Amino acid sequence: MTNNILSHFNEIKAKGLSIDITRGKPDSSQLDLSNELLSMPVEAINEEGVDLRNYGEPHGILEARELGSRLLSAPIENIITGEQSSLLLTYQTLLAHYLFAEPTPWQKIVNPKVICPVPGFDRHFQMFEDFGIEMLTVPLIEDGIDLDELKRILKENENVVGILSVPRHSNPSGEVFSDENISDLFDIGMDYSDNFLFLFDNAYLVHDFLPTRIQKPLWEIADKAKATNQTVEVTSFSKVTFGGGGISFMASSGKSLELVKKIRASMVICPDKVNQKRHTQFFSDADDIIRHMAKHAELIRPKFETAYSVLETLSDECGSFSRPTGGYFITFTSTKPIATRVVELCKEVGVLITPAGATFPYGNDPKDNIIRIAPTFVDERQLEVAMDAFITAVQIAHSE
Ligand SMILES: Cc1ncc(COP(=O)(O)O)c(C=O)c1O
Repeated sequence: MTNNILSHFNEIKAKGLSIDITRGKPDSSQLDLSNELLSMPVEAINEEGVDLRNYGEPHGILEARELGSRLLSAPIENIITGEQSSLLLTYQTLLAHYLFAEPTPWQKIVNPKVICPVPGFDRHFQMFEDFGIEMLTVPLIEDGIDLDELKRILKENENVVGILSVPRHSNPSGEVFSDENISDLFDIGMDYSDNFLFLFDNAYLVHDFLPTRIQKPLWEIADKAKATNQTVEVTSFSKVTFGGGGISFMASSGKSLELVKKIRASMVICPDKVNQKRHTQFFSDADDIIRHMAKHAELIRPKFETAYSVLETLSDECGSFSRPTGGYFITFTSTKPIATRVVELCKEVGVLITPAGATFPYGNDPKDNIIRIAPTFVDERQLEVAMDAFITAVQIAHSE
C-alpha cells in the first residue's frame, strides 16, 4: 500500500465526517416535488358517497383501487389499496400463509423454506427470520433469476413454499427481469407445487432514471401462465410522494387474495382514506405518475453520475460496480473478500455504509465482497466526499 493512500485516509479522518449512505431514501428536494399534498383540500364525502373520515372500505376507496389497477395493469377486483407501506402488505401476506394457507399452513410444514434471490433486501430477510422460514439463495443474473440454479435447488429441496423477488431495479443490484425470465419462473414454480407463492415486491416499478428494458405488466405474464392465484404483487408511493406517507397497492387473486383479506380483517379496520383521496387527486392517472417520476429522475441521476465519476478512478483490480437504470442503489463487488473491512474503514472516517452481509440472508455474504451504496439521500458535495472515503477504504483493504 502506498503511503499516499494512507495519508489521504488520515486526512479524511481528520475532517470528522458524519455522512450516512446506508439507506435508499429520497432527499428533501425529491420530497418537495409532492408538497402540494401537504395542503391539498379534500372533500369529506367522495363521489361514491363514502365518508372518508370514518371507518369503512377495508380494501381502499374505489378511486385509489382504480389507480392501483392502472399502475399494476390488473383488474380492479384483484386490487387492494392499503396503508403507507408495501412491506406491511408483504408481511401480512406471509403471516396469512403462515397461519392459514390451504391445504397446509406454513406453521404446520416441517422446516419450510423460501427462495431468496441474492443480493437482496435485508428487510425481506428479516421477515423470513421472524417466521423461522429457512432461506435458500439463488443468484441474480442480468436477465433476472438464475433459473438453472433455481431448478437445481428446487430439485434438491422439499417444502419450498415460494419466492420473494424485486423484479424491476432490484434492491440492491438493479436487475430488471426479462419477460421470459418471469414467465419461466412461473412455469418452474407451478411445476414444483400448486401452492408455490410468487411474491413480487415491485417497489421500484416506476423508478427509472435512464431508459430501461420495457417489461410486460407482471400481472399479464402471471395471467398467461395461469399463476394469478399463486401471485402477490405489491408496490407503494413511498419513493413517489412521501417516505412512510404514501399509499400501497397489492394485486392478487383467488386463494392468495382471500388470505390477505382475512388477515387484514383481524388487523386493521380500514386504511387512511383521506390520504388515499389526496393521492388520487394528485395523480389523476398513471401518466401523471410517470411525469412526476421523470422529475425525480432529474434529481437522482446526477447523484449516481457523481458516484460513478469517483468509482471510475478505482482500478478494476479492486472490483466493479453496477450502473442501474433506476432504483436507489449501486452495488460494488470487490475482487477480494474485503467488504466487512471496507465498511469498517469507512466507519472509522465517519462514513456509514450498509453493513457488509446485509444483502444476504442471515447477514452472511459467502464471498464477503458485496457492498450496497445508497447515493440519493445526501447532497452531491457530501456524496463526493463519501465516495472518496469509500474508494480510499477499498484500496487500503485490497492491499491489506
Ligand atoms: C425492495 C423494497 N421493498 C420495499 C421497500 C419499502 O417500501 P414501503 O415503504 O412501501 O414499505 C423498500 C425500501 O427501501 C425496498 O427497497
